[in-house]
Amino acid sequence: METYAVGPELHALPSALPIPDSGLQPVNAYLLRGEQPMLVDAGMPVDRDAFEEALWSLVDPADLRWIAITHDDRDHTGSLARILDRAPGAKVVTNGISLTRLSEEFEIPRGRVVTVNSGSRMSIGDRTLSFHRPPTFDSPGTLAVFDHDAGTLFSSDSFGTVLPETVQHVGDADAKEFF
Ligand SMILES: [Fe+2]
Repeated sequence: METYAVGPELHALPSALPIPDSGLQPVNAYLLRGEQPMLVDAGMPVDRDAFEEALWSLVDPADLRWIAITHDDRDHTGSLARILDRAPGAKVVTNGISLTRLSEEFEIPRGRVVTVNSGSRMSIGDRTLSFHRPPTFDSPGTLAVFDHDAGTLFSSDSFGTVLPETVQHVGDADAKEFF
């Protein structure tokens, strides 16, 4: 997995899932570094080894503090249990619905979860975050994450689409792929 910077202290962990006869479904997670590093989403189960190797090349497990899970779909939570084992200081930030649906597969200790709703705000070190229901979503627990300091919106699957090939920046994709 080839990570790349998408902003100051912000790195993409990119992957994609082939959709037969259609193209590639991009599946990206992000690491936001800073005083309290935060991972946004946790990759696909089929990518676990490559995802975790890429993640730990960007942040020491002892330093990871937060894992924001925008929703519980499997392509956002593939490495979550293993990351929680490896990074004992990290807590999950997610919606209560997503947390309940995650518990169908594995238990997350209550002391390692912060639940948020649309409109919630929280400070993580030098950053202020807020959480919002995006205009389109594919899970009842979906929340987008907005980093007020960098002006970055992690929109979950709101603008997701299938592409002939993955791109690093949305401007590199043909606009008609989004309609
Ligand atoms: Fe999804």
